[in-house]
Amino acid sequence: MKPKVYVNRLIPGEALKKLAQSCDYRIWEGELAVPRDVLLKEIPQIDALLSLLSDKIDGPLMDAAPKLRVISNMAVGFDNIDVHEATKRKIMVCNTPGVLTETTADFAFALLLAAARRVVEGERNVREGRWRTWGPMILLGHDIHHATLGIIGLGRIGAEMAKRAKGFDMRTIYSDSVRRPALEKSLGVEFRDLETLLAESDFVTIHTPLIPETHHLIGEEQFKIMKKTAILVNTARGPIVDPRALYNALHTHQIAYAALDVTEPEPIPLNDPLLTLDNIIIAPHIASASIATRTKMAMIAVDNLLAGLRGERPPHIVNPEVLAG
Ligand code: DGY
Repeated sequence: MKPKVYVNRLIPGEALKKLAQSCDYRIWEGELAVPRDVLLKEIPQIDALLSLLSDKIDGPLMDAAPKLRVISNMAVGFDNIDVHEATKRKIMVCNTPGVLTETTADFAFALLLAAARRVVEGERNVREGRWRTWGPMILLGHDIHHATLGIIGLGRIGAEMAKRAKGFDMRTIYSDSVRRPALEKSLGVEFRDLETLLAESDFVTIHTPLIPETHHLIGEEQFKIMKKTAILVNTARGPIVDPRALYNALHTHQIAYAALDVTEPEPIPLNDPLLTLDNIIIAPHIASASIATRTKMAMIAVDNLLAGLRGERPPHIVNPEVLAG
């Protein structure tokens, strides 16, 4: 009998084809996240789950899944999964790192450029009939070239940002929980503690995972340290930035601009005060959304899941301790 798998959303066909070769799978074809009651009904029968970052996979859900051996998340981030609870139950948790690094950095840089040069505001003005002339004082933005980029988290995506910054003749500094001497040398970046980084940077870009230590890492106190001309870019996870503090900082022009691909909560409610501001760009969590990358992510998620089901070590397991003993 083939193992049973539940797939929480429609994913690229190539990945489903591969899954079908060795598993019986059922899939949630809705446009929005699979409802909790549907998942609770499906999960008792399944051996593996292909989940998304928008699915909360917690202890009570795992309690309803006596056969579950693998949770394969189609994302590099896995803060939607209670890994501790999974490990307690010897369930493997997997993610999809690597393949989305450059695509995500491309988008983070696109947001940085768009915010600095007010691209979205300008486009809005054109469509709304407010482009009446060329003007020496119209939509003045901030130069990117020769500015200082502050990278919070010099992991894979952070390092790609540093590479892109080089092409724009930026000076790059970073903060992280550990120093990365090899990258400092190869990328020409300098280490700063977070406070110094915030004080020195013209652009601050966040590339750290969401863990208890990074929840609301950027809040009221941090905005006070930043330059009035600073631009904040967040493509990591919404809750790393305190949204109320961000609203106040933008509203009072304590910082100049923000560009977010992630919000707290997601999706951002239409009545969120951030949406009343002109000095913010908000994208709907699409930094990894290129055709090629999403296909690769789906394939890796399937490969992880199949390896786990075969009793092998999945290529990207986040809790390898479940394999011991
Ligand atoms: C991830 O993978 O964690 C991104 O947020 C979405 O691709």
